[in-house]
Amino acid sequence: MPEIGIIGGSGVYRMPSVELIREEAVDTPYGAPSDTFRMLRISGIEVVFLARHGSGHTIPPHKINYRANIWGFKALGVKRLLSMGAVGGINPLLRPGSIVVADQIIDMTTGRTSTFYDKDEVYHVDFSEPFCPELRAVFTEAAGAVGLPVLTRGTYACTNGPRFETRAEIRYYSIAGADVVGMTAMPEAALAREAEICYGTIATVTNSAAGISRDKLTTTEVIETINESSINLNALLLRTISLIKAQRHCPCKDALKDAKMMK
Ligand code: HPA
Repeated sequence: MPEIGIIGGSGVYRMPSVELIREEAVDTPYGAPSDTFRMLRISGIEVVFLARHGSGHTIPPHKINYRANIWGFKALGVKRLLSMGAVGGINPLLRPGSIVVADQIIDMTTGRTSTFYDKDEVYHVDFSEPFCPELRAVFTEAAGAVGLPVLTRGTYACTNGPRFETRAEIRYYSIAGADVVGMTAMPEAALAREAEICYGTIATVTNSAAGISRDKLTTTEVIETINESSINLNALLLRTISLIKAQRHCPCKDALKDAKMMK
């Protein structure tokens, strides 16, 4: 069973030049995932790929069935989930094409079901470090190995979308310490933690966030930048996959331990 999963965001609907082994539609108690899961062989390693917005980009961020997607990866045996996503840059050091290995999240989403435990059992998982520290270290090592400059930490503000933000909202997130703004890391990261799956994100800055640049924000700019970054992103991903070690030593694998509320 493949233990590495990849979730592709805007502009990443397939993985180029890799061997497709098979496609699998996974049925989940939460309904249908965004798409079929594609089993791929990359440099001899089996991985599972899912297009977060569907392969035709038909699902907006607030309508993604995050629980079905994470459940699907879990059902397929995935232990490490590499998430790719487009973000707006808030930190003035960031430019379109910059890559951030985020280490923190500010969750500004509303109305998204953000837990698997909303029935009889109550769990409170530790989320002080929302991204797997081991995966973050591997991303950083891989970036160094392929000679790609990345910001090795950064705070990701997750907004609900689908609209882009106002200038005042971005100023507010900036004061709160956010470096980038995107629409999909939550509840994905929290659900992965509840599923005891390691989760790390490669956030690609596709535009300067609202008010950081005076330009009108467009989806054309987002997709164009992702397309221009695709060679770098693929190189980073391939090296990351080859550097992931079989054993996990991070806290993610035991996230449910001591997290259940006892009567
Ligand atoms: N805001 C929110 N999400 C995004 C942006 C943005 O500016 N760019 C790409 N995804």
